[in-house]
Amino acid sequence: MKETSVVTLARHVVEEERKHPEATGAFSDIIHDIALAAKVISRKVNMAGLVDILGRTGETNLHGDSVQKLDVFADEVIFKAMDHTGHLCCMASEEHPEVIPIPERFPRGKYVLLYDPLDGSTNIDVNVSIGTIFSIHRKVSDGDHGCLDDCLQVGSRQLAAGYVVYGSSTMLVYTSGAGVYGFTLDPSIGEFLLSHPNIRIPEEASRTYSINESNHPRWRPAQKRYMDHLKAQGDLSSRYIGSLVADFHRTLLKGGIFMYPADSKSPKGKLRLLYEASPLAFICREAGGAATDGRRNILDLKPTELHQKVPLYIGSKDLVDKAGDFLSGDSEI
Ligand code: AHG
Ligand code: MN
Ligand code: MN
Repeated sequence: MKETSVVTLARHVVEEERKHPEATGAFSDIIHDIALAAKVISRKVNMAGLVDILGRTGETNLHGDSVQKLDVFADEVIFKAMDHTGHLCCMASEEHPEVIPIPERFPRGKYVLLYDPLDGSTNIDVNVSIGTIFSIHRKVSDGDHGCLDDCLQVGSRQLAAGYVVYGSSTMLVYTSGAGVYGFTLDPSIGEFLLSHPNIRIPEEASRTYSINESNHPRWRPAQKRYMDHLKAQGDLSSRYIGSLVADFHRTLLKGGIFMYPADSKSPKGKLRLLYEASPLAFICREAGGAATDGRRNILDLKPTELHQKVPLYIGSKDLVDKAGDFLSGDSEI
């Protein structure tokens, strides 16, 4: 019998779990439930122009961003896909100021899910790629209810991390510390199929730098010098989509560097550590890349607040390290 080339996400996760005799199957359940939520969100994203899901709710979230209807929809879909499974002790979402408890009527488990339900919200109404980002930690607190301490864990302790990019196709990319795997949704059968086994960030020539250059006037001198250095190399194209997931996904597959620096208006940058920088840093490291705040490894940063921001330099290790060379002299970071 010819070996089938169709590897579903479920089959891949089960085969990965077999390599860990101590595995309980909880992780494969969690990934399965995240994939289910991603399918539901993908269907809504793909019909966004036809159903009442475009535009704003009229509210602003804790970050001062205007909340898009799809932000709320995605947040609710993920929560409801995960709240009853008995695998999580609590959750944390970009759209909720505090830690989200598991409803009392449901059992609790030993994992924590932190997530950005809809990344790139400003791109929703203009049909540009958007995403979902997730991070999974083990529970560390006593008792069976999760708490803030279970969320405020250093990135190197992540059990798994991943993202979904709702683009020309819907892809789910994840790592559990043994390589990075990409799955493409086949909507005709509703399955995520392995399309990118063992992703490694390439050294090839089609590398890009990705940054919002409109912030140039607010950058620190060292940031400006690094950008001049990158441009003088003459071998990098500029690409900026404005959705972190899409800009990171391109950087992961083609090489290069994505930056959201600190600046005079945002001394900690704009991106959040726990559910944006940290999960993508885990994926990037597993793919042979690097991620820093300009000086320190993102995965070594001990969080102190649920929604704390962090400058982000992520992508090909040589480019991230070079950024550090320029910025390390900039003691303000
Ligand atoms: P979110 O939609 O989850 O708030 O994230 C938006 C982030 C990120 O996706 C992107 O890299 C960045 O905002 C873009 O910011 P600018 O518009 O300031 O460039
Ligand atoms: Mn985001
Ligand atoms: Mn978001």
